Amino acid sequence: MLSGVTKSSNIPICFKISPLLPKLLCGKAYSFFDNQMKTINIIGAGRVGQTLAHLWKDQGFFTIQQILTRSSTSAEKAVAFIGQGLPIDSLDDLQPADLTLISLPDQFIEEISLELVQKGKLKKQSLVFHCSGSLASNVLLSCRKRECSIASVHPVKSFADPQSMVQNFAGTWCGIEGDEQAQETLKGAFEAIGGLLFDLKAETKIHYHTASVMVCNYLVTLMDRGVETYKKAGLPEAVALQLMEPLVRGTMDNVFQLGPVAALTGPITRGDTQVIAKQEEAMEQWDEDMGTLYRTLGRFTLNLAERQGGISKQALSRLQDILT
Ligand SMILES: NC(=O)c1ccc[n+]([C@@H]2O[C@H](COP(=O)([O-])OP(=O)(O)OC[C@H]3O[C@@H](n4cnc5c(N)ncnc54)[C@H](OP(=O)(O)O)[C@@H]3O)[C@@H](O)[C@H]2O)c1
Repeated sequence: MLSGVTKSSNIPICFKISPLLPKLLCGKAYSFFDNQMKTINIIGAGRVGQTLAHLWKDQGFFTIQQILTRSSTSAEKAVAFIGQGLPIDSLDDLQPADLTLISLPDQFIEEISLELVQKGKLKKQSLVFHCSGSLASNVLLSCRKRECSIASVHPVKSFADPQSMVQNFAGTWCGIEGDEQAQETLKGAFEAIGGLLFDLKAETKIHYHTASVMVCNYLVTLMDRGVETYKKAGLPEAVALQLMEPLVRGTMDNVFQLGPVAALTGPITRGDTQVIAKQEEAMEQWDEDMGTLYRTLGRFTLNLAERQGGISKQALSRLQDILT
């Protein structure tokens, strides 16, 4: 074990009193005979790395061994926030741990996992994982050369800053996929800090992440296009946002209470062909891209209206023509 870790005075009191308490407090990551806390290295300690390390340290679930970032200043800051671990700014100084969390920006995850293997920085048969939503655990395949088990755990949350995230992490949904053994350990680790685990598949993870981008980011884009359209009608942006708020919040409530099909209202589901024809023409004349956006979303809305079942065949066919 590293000197920086053994010297730490932050080991929770329960571990000093009885070596059996971790099993009682932290669940299945500890077996009856394996009562020594596992060590974890954090490669990249930004918003996610700091938050998780802080929570695991507070719960006494893992011993935070080393924190690697690009600069010694940020590594020291991260260690100060976490309250445990040894700050380093070079992979050469890393000592292998029981677990390795790679919480770097996505584009560096595969590259650093190769480096970890090449430089002998992974304990044989240890666990390596990342928290990306868009990448599956198979970007860590090179770690198999050290017989490591690999996984990914994606917390479905926007980590704005670690200080507020440590207060608000409990109750966060976390999508997990990877090797069975790795999943078992990580489920225990994330549940211990309040995570709600659900299973993902490596092959379809890209669709899962795309869905999150659509319902989160594209929703914001759609709101922005709505504001621009209100402004085209002569309304100031502040007024547009004010009148949108109850409309949008009410719609959201309906979607989550009733589901998207039953929540749909408006001219398409009423089969109001004249209104839709006028709106399509107005949008196309104003801006071709807005016309395209209106027709594209209109076709998906027509599909919803068809599933709702109230629209006549005649209106459906006419609306298909207008929106194509
Ligand atoms: N933020 C979110 O809302 C969120 C939510 C779910 C999942 N995730 C996932 O969590 C992971 C980390 O995201 P994040 O938002 O925590 O990132 P972040 O705040 O930008 O932090 C990245 C960390 O990586 C370090 N770093 C960057 N390049 C490096 C390199 N080449 N070598 C060593 N260290 C390097 C940075 O060091 P310095 O501090 O020295 O710059 C920083 O500590 C990503 O996979 C992301 O997809 C993020």
